Amino acid sequence: MAVERTLTILKPDCVRKNLIGEVTRRIQEAGFTILAMKMTRLTKDTAGGFYAVHRERPFFDELTDFMSSGPCVPMILEKENAIADFRELIGATNPAEADEGTIRSDFADSLGENIVHGSDSVENGKIEAAYFFAESDVVANRA
Ligand code: CMP
Repeated sequence: MAVERTLTILKPDCVRKNLIGEVTRRIQEAGFTILAMKMTRLTKDTAGGFYAVHRERPFFDELTDFMSSGPCVPMILEKENAIADFRELIGATNPAEADEGTIRSDFADSLGENIVHGSDSVENGKIEAAYFFAESDVVANRA
């Protein structure tokens, strides 16, 4: 299996619920290496840029309001099969449909406030990672 990178964001609800530590622990326990990580706060505009593919969706306004409602913690993660394995770890987008024991099933309140984001492909992961980090951030952090 190929070594892949994925971009995750611990969303503002994750930060507000004091779950940065617990969610990061689960990510590391599942074998992901954190290559880059920071705490930052998106504006409504920068949240809209990140989620530009959803611009025409009815939930876009709600999504960008929520994502700019407080600090978040983006990370670049690396692992064999990272895209699929991370999506398995976090569970379905809608926590009501997420498998038991997944991060979203355990901690998320709703489809909109679902604790974490995970890239849906290697290609999108690269685009999303570049939204938050320079490649030099990644190189500097490799153990
Ligand atoms: P995420 O994986 O970050 O990618 C896009 C986000 O949009 C998704 O998680 C959800 O949090 C959010 N989303 C998707 N569908 C809806 C919806 N119907 N209403 C509100 N938010 C949604």
